[in-house]
Amino acid sequence: MLCFGGDYNPEQWPEEVWAEDVALMRQAGVSMVTVGVFAWSHLEPSPGEYEFTWLDRILDRLHEGGIRVALATPTASPPPWFTLAHPEALPVTADGVRLTHGSRDTYCVSAPAYRTAAAAIAGKLADRYAHHPALALWHVHNEYGTDCRCDLTAAAFRTWLEKKHGDLDALNESWTTAFWSQRYSDWAQILPPRATQYLPNPAHVLDFRRFLSDELLAAYQEQRDLLRAANPAIPVTTNFVQGGWVSVDHAKWAAEMDLVAVDDYPSEPGLGAEEQTAFGGDLARGWGGGSWLLMETGPNLIYTPGRMHAKEAGRLTRHSLSYVARGSRGAMYFQWRQPRGGAELFHSALVPHAGPDSPVFREAVGLGRTLKAIAAQVADAPPPVAQVAVAWDAPSWWALQGAGLPSAEIDYLAAVRQAHRALHRSGTAVDFVFPGLPMDLGAYRVVVLPHLYLVSDETAAAFREFVANGGHLVVGHLSGIAEPDGRVRLGGYPGAFREVLGVRVVEWRPLAGDAEIALDSGDRAVRWSERVETAGSETVVRYAGDVLAGAPAITRNRYGSGSAWYVSPGLSDDGLRRLLDRVLGEAGVAPAHAGLPTGVEAVRRGPLLFLFNHGVVPGVVPLSGPAVNAVTRRELSESVTVPAGGSMVVRLGSADSPHPVR
Ligand code: GLA
Repeated sequence: MLCFGGDYNPEQWPEEVWAEDVALMRQAGVSMVTVGVFAWSHLEPSPGEYEFTWLDRILDRLHEGGIRVALATPTASPPPWFTLAHPEALPVTADGVRLTHGSRDTYCVSAPAYRTAAAAIAGKLADRYAHHPALALWHVHNEYGTDCRCDLTAAAFRTWLEKKHGDLDALNESWTTAFWSQRYSDWAQILPPRATQYLPNPAHVLDFRRFLSDELLAAYQEQRDLLRAANPAIPVTTNFVQGGWVSVDHAKWAAEMDLVAVDDYPSEPGLGAEEQTAFGGDLARGWGGGSWLLMETGPNLIYTPGRMHAKEAGRLTRHSLSYVARGSRGAMYFQWRQPRGGAELFHSALVPHAGPDSPVFREAVGLGRTLKAIAAQVADAPPPVAQVAVAWDAPSWWALQGAGLPSAEIDYLAAVRQAHRALHRSGTAVDFVFPGLPMDLGAYRVVVLPHLYLVSDETAAAFREFVANGGHLVVGHLSGIAEPDGRVRLGGYPGAFREVLGVRVVEWRPLAGDAEIALDSGDRAVRWSERVETAGSETVVRYAGDVLAGAPAITRNRYGSGSAWYVSPGLSDDGLRRLLDRVLGEAGVAPAHAGLPTGVEAVRRGPLLFLFNHGVVPGVVPLSGPAVNAVTRRELSESVTVPAGGSMVVRLGSADSPHPVR
């Protein structure tokens, strides 16, 4: 079965609506809904007084309708009574402002009162529902990420620091506290990063980010363990946040999930949304080790900063199948029914204010049928196989979000997305690898490192070995600069990668705004340039203007049986694509499907070929052997036409299908 459904908030509606909800869910083929995410004040209206009968009724009703439930613990939004009883458990900003209730996520994860109350309500839910026949998945909390700088946080931060550094001398060394007289002589002197006079200490900020990620994970684990204890057969997860808000180190968290679940909201109105979908799906697959679940996305709207855009016909289906093609075990949305009020009253829904007689609901009904038709085939198909990987590293992102960097325009996410976009536009399947964790690079021909700023000796050695064994490594600027604690590696950039790259960077020359420098390849440097000295590598592209004219810009170093490329300039999308196409060519990496027309994207998942036409004219895709339409089971020969804006799932191979429609 593929999960198809979304966040369902029956507590926001009179019970008369519930019957219609279940009927419409059945009409659309909804197989799973997430219930109770923000229902704490309905489940525990006053301290220790529980009201579960409404939840009993809706879970029973869903079960009767054949719909499974991801039951959430409601701990992301403590009720007002909790706040008033435990003001010390409210989050405090870096400016010292204590926030209050009236929104959501108003808690300090280090406050004992919050942790006790969260465990209590989760425990009650476990006691009551762990064996409910509708229960398929526990959904702990919602999008962990709340940041707090209060005194309780300070105490927890110190405990974490003591464990990490052992003694104050080690901490002082790691944080370079000799700079600006910041030497700590007692643990009690250490605070969370708070508003201060001028630039904060970057190592202090970085350790705080790591602490917060671990502290939130500990809160998750507490709930997970008690839910698991109540019924070990039910998997437990929480929904990761994908996007510009990198609150925790998801790669590290993934090991603690029974199933990695990810929320992904593309935020660009045009084709960028399709590229974001591909990026989000590939990254989530990396976190999930091949398999994951899209827990939330907007079914009918794309939220760009400042505006909500209606998706064109076919786009809900394209986006949803794109996630499934990339390893998701279904497509879940925020949300089932659009609410009449509340802060997100105009957010996306399968049943919008207009009701089921609406484009989004009609498309959802069609999508439900498609998912049902392909479910068994998808279940048997392995996740996509990629020969190319891009590195993703949350701590490097955190470090590059800091102040005092050589350019205010450094943007980690943009750099990683650009690398993914270039490969994606070439039709190449892309995986992600996570340098902070043990990596198996053996399956890859090409690995790209955009802005991999923090690098341990072990990580540097793993990439050297990858190249020595015949891999093709592409290192972008701002990589290898510092050790994991943020201290710079001396002797020239890109410190950790100097040897494998055979280069030494002696000067950074970030470019302002729209300034450009010509390159002798015909491309241009944008955003960034450097003075590079080669040390054994060959210069492939030179700067052709500015004071750098004639100096190396892009180099290649033969190392063992592979090669390591260094890309010192920032490149345009086209420039990066040209470069990566060349590397892919040298590495012998073929696109996911040959002969695609413009605008058509292909994703292979075992024998299944997912085709998405993001263009405005029909696309004819050549097929090199026998194939069937995986939905209709009709045989296809030679080619298949994907309508403009449409999607198609093709099963390659002969027509005698081992896959009955389930
Ligand atoms: C997130 C949250 C949801 C909701 C949506 C809005 O993913 O988990 O509760 O706020 O965003 O689209």
